[in-house]
Amino acid sequence: MSHSVSYTKDGDIGIITVNNPPVNALSQHVRAGLSESFIAANSDPTVATILICDGRTFIAGADITEFGRPMETPNFLETLLTMENMSKPVIAAIHGTALGGGLETALCCHYRVAVPSARVGLPEVHLGLLPGAGGTQRLPRLIGAQAAVDAIANGVQINAKAAHAAGVIDELVEEGKLLEGAKAFARKIVANGAPLKKVRDMNEKVTGVDPAIFEKARATAMQTRRGFKAPLSCIACVEAACTLPFEEGMARERELFQELHDGMQSAAQRHIFFSERAASKVDDMPKDVKLLDVKTVGVIGAGTMGGGIAMNFANVGIPVFLLETKQEFLDKGLAVVRGNYERTAKKGRLTTEQVEQRMGLITPTLDYADLGSVDMIIEAVFENMPIKKEVFAKLDEIAKPGCILATNTSTLDVDEIAAVTKRPEFVIGTHFFSPANVMQLLEIVRGAKTSFEVLATTLAVAKTIKKIGVVVGVCDGFVGNRMIHQYLAQGQYLLEEGCLPDAVDAPVYDLGFAMGPLTMSDLAGLDVGWRIRQGKGLPASLPAGQRYCEIGDRICEQGRFGQKTGGGFYNYDPSTRSKQTAPEIEKLIVDYSKEKGIKRRKIDSEEVLERLMYALINEGAWILEEGIAQRASDIDVIYVYGYGVPAYLGGPMFYADQIGLDKVYKRVCEFAEQDPASWKPAPLLKKLAEQGATFN
Ligand code: CAA
Repeated sequence: MSHSVSYTKDGDIGIITVNNPPVNALSQHVRAGLSESFIAANSDPTVATILICDGRTFIAGADITEFGRPMETPNFLETLLTMENMSKPVIAAIHGTALGGGLETALCCHYRVAVPSARVGLPEVHLGLLPGAGGTQRLPRLIGAQAAVDAIANGVQINAKAAHAAGVIDELVEEGKLLEGAKAFARKIVANGAPLKKVRDMNEKVTGVDPAIFEKARATAMQTRRGFKAPLSCIACVEAACTLPFEEGMARERELFQELHDGMQSAAQRHIFFSERAASKVDDMPKDVKLLDVKTVGVIGAGTMGGGIAMNFANVGIPVFLLETKQEFLDKGLAVVRGNYERTAKKGRLTTEQVEQRMGLITPTLDYADLGSVDMIIEAVFENMPIKKEVFAKLDEIAKPGCILATNTSTLDVDEIAAVTKRPEFVIGTHFFSPANVMQLLEIVRGAKTSFEVLATTLAVAKTIKKIGVVVGVCDGFVGNRMIHQYLAQGQYLLEEGCLPDAVDAPVYDLGFAMGPLTMSDLAGLDVGWRIRQGKGLPASLPAGQRYCEIGDRICEQGRFGQKTGGGFYNYDPSTRSKQTAPEIEKLIVDYSKEKGIKRRKIDSEEVLERLMYALINEGAWILEEGIAQRASDIDVIYVYGYGVPAYLGGPMFYADQIGLDKVYKRVCEFAEQDPASWKPAPLLKKLAEQGATFN
């Protein structure tokens, strides 16, 4: 037998156990072990065979590290056929998560039992794939076309109770007693002479299905996951289960799986899957770091960010003190939080009790002394260094020893903030993205003196509140905002050189970004950057030789701060918020170029795309070189989860790798020649380009 699969017997029951930590993925040796074990079990004088897993979970799917390479034998489909064609009942005993190929394996067993905490699902769509081992053909035969489309095209996990109700699980067994429960079930069905239930034979094809469900699913997928190919292929496969006999449906599934597997989208999404997990690893972190307890939290500032941050903790049952300087600010902040919860409740995603329970976990206060007992305090006050320093000096006085002091600054020097305390090792940056209760990214800013305990605990807190934490170093704007600054600047330069707003935004939108740079600025609010620039005395204080475009400032001077004021680079319909061209702004742009003596030219969309993307990539390379990000894939994760870059592009650094760094570097050098004030080719980009290497 293979080292990761064992076959044992308990009396008349055969037991096949998979042990392939950490998640019992279907690596080649597991497939080989399963094939051999089932062949052995079939010829044994046992009455039934149980398939169970050691460790934390049932099989969590194919081994994703094997994708992108030719599949080594045994072929998974053949292994599954061996199981399905067993001459005695096979029972899958499920705990943890039976996902992807794991659930497909279970669907080839004749029966399935599970503990109540188990979950099942076909999440391949999140990897840019579809379930390629019969999942799209078997699941609809078991639970019907609509439920299967919902589960497969959205990749949702279903809890054991719901799976039992839907017929995916035949029996729920007592938590902690999976093997005993599975054996009892096996003996029961054998005693009852129950048939060998093959899901594939349940219906020749899934009949009586209204084709409109597929049209609706396609329309939703195209709207909510614009540009992603996998959801559409998933839907097509379920549709095939309703129109074709099983074997033909399987052939269609194979064909579409192969197409996705060989395509760039899945490669990019698999890159993001592993990058997301790598991001939580800190290269120099000792293995034995002890985590601090974070059971209660304080948030300072009940504005948009503070309120959103507090919600994250309340959502997972952690009590929060929310502190403000005035009762009216507290009242306003809490009303916004309540409004957010009530909107979610109206959509049916929270019950009224849950709304009250979450609100009950947020305690408003005006008194810093209330924060004296909490384990972590997150400051989310106005982005201004003197104010932040004042807050941290106060926190140093009132916080208990061992309390983590976090700042939600998006640009400021965390070390300077830490220096006003007597415990800089407990100070860290937690840069949430707006809206903080929605966006998944959390940049965790490691200060020069931040301790490993504080860093490791903050990473763990990120996971607890369901954020993707990425560790970054201290610099102006950290990773995300420092890069976006270069990108937004190019957006403005393109305007003064010849583009109108839509010509700047369209190329990146067409590439897959949620929106272009100008639409993004309108959404974020043009006044934010304007006030910061005014605070810095720009443009008067601009060092010689630096480039500056005043178009954004001129727009703000008209009281146009973006979407919230009904207009910025574009106009917005007050009721629908739909974006329209603003002729007055187009005139402002053309007049501005004339005033500055800039001869406007026709700039093609390829140049627009290159300048925007390469501005991100070049700055990303500087960031890597300076050690502000640990690895290129961290930058990719930041852009996918914080800046609306679709996972199917894999993030800016992965995108650069696909273009070829030699090509990127050559263009960056050409841009630098034309405009040395705004382009400084990164030495790392040069080095990798010359070596024919990649970032990732
Ligand atoms: N293949 C290879 N490695 C995997 C893996 C897989 N399917 N799933 C998880 N891992 C690895 C992770 O990369 C991670 O490795 P490191 O410790 O080195 O970082 C480790 O296992 C633990 O994973 P998590 O940190 O994610 O652990 P978790 O407990 O938070 O979550 C999980 C466990 C829910 C199973 C989660 O890992 C997960 O969702 N995995 C992917 C499941 C999936 O997509 N399955 C479908 C695969 S495609 C398929 O099956 C195609 C088919 O049709 C045959």
